[in-house]
Amino acid sequence: MASVTSLSASVEQQLASALTAALPEAVADPLLRRSDRADFQANGILALAKKAKANPRELAGQVVAGITTGDVIADIEVSGPGFLNITIADRAITRILAARYADTERLGVPYADTPGTTVIDYAQPNVAKEMHVGHLRSAVIGDAVVQLLEFTGENVVRRHHIGDWGTQFGMLIQYLDEHPHELDHEASEVSGEEAMSNLDRLYKSARRLFDSDEEFKTRARRRVVDLQAGDPHTLAMWQKFVDESKIYFFSVFEKLDMEVRDPDIVGESGYNDMLAETCRLLEESGVAVRSEGALCVFFDDIKGPDGQPVPLIVQKSDGGYGYAATDLSAIRDRVFNLKANSLLYVVDARQSLHFKMVFETARKAGWLNDEDVKAYQLAFGTVLGKDGKPFKTREGETVRLVDLLDEAIDRATAVVREKDTQHQLSEEEIAERGAQVGIGAVKYADLSTSASRDYKFDLDQMVSLNGDTSVYLQYAYARIQSILRKAGETRPQPHPELGLHEAERALGLHLDAFAEAVAESATEYAPHKMTAYLYQLASLFTSFYDKCPVIKPEPPKDVAENRLFLCDLTARTLHQGMALLGIRTPERL
Ligand code: ARG
Repeated sequence: MASVTSLSASVEQQLASALTAALPEAVADPLLRRSDRADFQANGILALAKKAKANPRELAGQVVAGITTGDVIADIEVSGPGFLNITIADRAITRILAARYADTERLGVPYADTPGTTVIDYAQPNVAKEMHVGHLRSAVIGDAVVQLLEFTGENVVRRHHIGDWGTQFGMLIQYLDEHPHELDHEASEVSGEEAMSNLDRLYKSARRLFDSDEEFKTRARRRVVDLQAGDPHTLAMWQKFVDESKIYFFSVFEKLDMEVRDPDIVGESGYNDMLAETCRLLEESGVAVRSEGALCVFFDDIKGPDGQPVPLIVQKSDGGYGYAATDLSAIRDRVFNLKANSLLYVVDARQSLHFKMVFETARKAGWLNDEDVKAYQLAFGTVLGKDGKPFKTREGETVRLVDLLDEAIDRATAVVREKDTQHQLSEEEIAERGAQVGIGAVKYADLSTSASRDYKFDLDQMVSLNGDTSVYLQYAYARIQSILRKAGETRPQPHPELGLHEAERALGLHLDAFAEAVAESATEYAPHKMTAYLYQLASLFTSFYDKCPVIKPEPPKDVAENRLFLCDLTARTLHQGMALLGIRTPERL
């Protein structure tokens, strides 16, 4: 058993156990961190000394004397008021990395001790509407968090809470009913672009009629009632809009190189059967009260500018249900049917008040609590134009997501073509790489700032080869593949008996921290921690490759092999980390 643990444990974990064993109190945390003076610094002695009313430097001295350095620690010394500076043995670094390398599936990343079930609500566009830049973030961040959580062994249920219900459908359905030829094709006959332009045309015509023809307006309003009552003919018409929209959504998600599965699309309409009961439960328990005919929930700490409490309206006075009733019903479904422990909502920060009120209501109703069923809005900021204002076209309109993605792909394709000076890639390969680099650039730029912050959409910066971009990481990966090809190595052997160069040590210790970076990014829902880890990895690789020749001038065979092993492990780590963010790493660029 012990050998199994030591095989998968990281350098840092093995060091922590060696220190913990030497500390007078077995439970004490050595508080390890990376340091520029040595490889690690342990700060835990200070707190321990304080508790035991002992002199920290003396206590630190005792720990150093009592420690079995084993084969992990090369040097340990007391510094400052009672810190420990620790240097790791070269051979331990290589040995531990070799064990991770042997695990081709997971690179030694362990599963979480106590996985749970997370329902994640992300990528939720609206039916019969164009997807705009605001829908980018939810999709990109949500997809990354799904991959990160699944990699740690969490049971993840995806929910795309699309906007597929509401009064505007009365108008659309009525119009289509009166002009049936406008959408009378098979779903398989149209492309995503065509589907969207059909919907757009329908929407505009319906709107024009609605605004100019009072009788149509009355018929349209009656249609909403039919829809909510579940009239089969009306529902069939509504379904046509949903199907046409899905053709479009799927085409955009495909362009985004993102898997969205049909059964996971459970939109607002999916909770229709629960709405009345949700209201009844809230009213009976006194969580919600009638106010001027509407069913409302009031909160002590939520007031409008006039000082009056702002309620969450669960049911309007005309009996209609809105966004809140749907979300509260979705919570019941996710908690009681899907048995979730965590509900995660990747939604624009501008909806934060809505979620605050919805979560608080669900807590009052006993559907959520702060222990075993938690809800959290992963609220993201706004995408800004270069001018620092919310991103708009020159004409001041919202930017279509597809236009933006196409532009990124065009730019990236130009970069790939320009870099291919030897003309090694065919036109087809250039197009494929261009898409992978362009979409990767957009995703990476979005993921590399912490979600809550706004960021500027700047294509020049995004496809730059220097700096913190996916292109830089993709080129680092492709470069390593070319090194391995040149060396004719597919599985280079590690050589733990060799001493290491400073740059090899730095790269090795960072490779060792991959599992920790995965765990942190997943548990904190923070993909930007993964991008930061990967960027540093690529930078450390670059300086390693500058200082430590791998192929030319040719080092001794065992040194060359060990360096190639470091190259390959770096590539595999880059590949795995990028995959968790939904970004491709082409073999050649
Ligand atoms: N469809 C909404 C929008 O486009 C986002 C839905 C968010 N999820 C939710 N459960 N309310 O803004």
